[in-house]
Amino acid sequence: MAVVFETAAALTHTMIDEPNRLKFHIQPPVGLLNDPNGLVQHHGVFHVFYQWNPWSCEHKNKTWNHLTTTNFIDFQQQDVALLPTDWYDKNGCYSGSAFIKDDHVHLFYTGNVKDEAGNRQAYQCLARVQADQSVEKLGVVIDDCEIPEGYTRHFRDPKIWFDQETQQWVTILGAQTCQEQGTVLLFTSRDAMKWAFHGELQTKYTRQFGYMWECPDLLTVDNQDVLIFSPQGVEQQGMEYANIYQSGYLLGSFDLPTARLQHGTFRELDRGFEFYAPQTFTDESGRVILLAWMGLPEEEAQPTCEAGWVHALTVPRHLTIRDGILCQQPIRELQALRKTALQEQVLPSGHSEHTVSDCYELQLTWDTLPTTGTCTLAFDHEHTLELDFNQKLATLRRTGAYLPGIRQCQLEETTNLTLTILKDTSSVEIFLQDGRNVFTARTFHEHRPTILTVELAAIAATIAYCELGAMTITHTEKGKK
Ligand code: FRU
Repeated sequence: MAVVFETAAALTHTMIDEPNRLKFHIQPPVGLLNDPNGLVQHHGVFHVFYQWNPWSCEHKNKTWNHLTTTNFIDFQQQDVALLPTDWYDKNGCYSGSAFIKDDHVHLFYTGNVKDEAGNRQAYQCLARVQADQSVEKLGVVIDDCEIPEGYTRHFRDPKIWFDQETQQWVTILGAQTCQEQGTVLLFTSRDAMKWAFHGELQTKYTRQFGYMWECPDLLTVDNQDVLIFSPQGVEQQGMEYANIYQSGYLLGSFDLPTARLQHGTFRELDRGFEFYAPQTFTDESGRVILLAWMGLPEEEAQPTCEAGWVHALTVPRHLTIRDGILCQQPIRELQALRKTALQEQVLPSGHSEHTVSDCYELQLTWDTLPTTGTCTLAFDHEHTLELDFNQKLATLRRTGAYLPGIRQCQLEETTNLTLTILKDTSSVEIFLQDGRNVFTARTFHEHRPTILTVELAAIAATIAYCELGAMTITHTEKGKK
């Protein structure tokens, strides 16, 4: 196993160089990335872990890679935090969360085990991050045999928090009933070591919305409780649920004793092509920040695989609630990527072409929401965003070789309209109406586009542009050994 460890650590220094490499998104140095894990801030330092297979672009051999940062621009690559080297996690250190106890960051994750016949076992495990960022595994705290009766071994992705009112630790886990219905189970503990089953989370969607719920997260934003989860097996309905798997939220009020959430309608967190398994954390200033996987399961055949890497995380997004909608906006730290101030100009009706760099921020503003006409932005020949003000419809269109199609959402009733776009080399994130809706997508290009085309057939807007720089990753001396 020492060999495995040395290889994983060494691979973090083998940074691939190819045209689709992103400049301000977290991406694997080599291999496959999926879910963000263990998001936490401790003594000013943010920890970002992610599911990482360093050895290939397949969903196998999951480790937790570990980055630290104080500003989300300059990152330190730490040693790989968790490797699948023990009997209880030998087929993968699966997703989980972080918490602070005894002034240490602790990791709570799922050990995935498969026997020779392919049968799955799920162990919930703890680990402690030491002051030098090395990680000590503490072993299994919820055994496979403690999975309550009536549920399958699809039981994973613990998200933990401390409940001040009852002075106990609470964790929620993605689960599946024996009838293959998706749900969430709760466990409680006094010391985060010895756990007791508390019950099944009660919502109107429980057991009737897909066959498995992955990566549940229960958080409070602006005094409202929010359940985020990623259901699998939900059929497309019109423009809703268009991706293979979904990620969305229920907004309401949670009661721990009865495990009941009073809530409104499920709403997708993202309207684009690539977004899954989001995780949130509350930082030391009280901000709630979300990161997600800018990818989806079963979308591994991306053009970057030839170069030996696949997938990335979204930018970190600050969550707030407006008009009963969970809104996402890029965290303010990302403004430090701007190479200049945003350059504003009037965008008159008609056709215009704008010279762009491969990484940029673009804002479009209408002081009053247009009630008629259209606006089409072509990022290149294969990726366009169309706003139809008559139908109040936004459409992201992808026509290239990689997963062509459209993704749509309805514009909200707002007095004005703002649009913030973060374009990286091979991705786009579009924050509509202060992030009430967001489109996230990968945009692989044959040739690097240098022109953004706008067709505006509506009242004039203001367009603001600036080039964005790159984040940095440094390797600690310890990591280089
Ligand atoms: C979500 C997920 C999790 C699991 C992890 C494994 O993408 O399937 O449920 O813990 O990925 O990498």
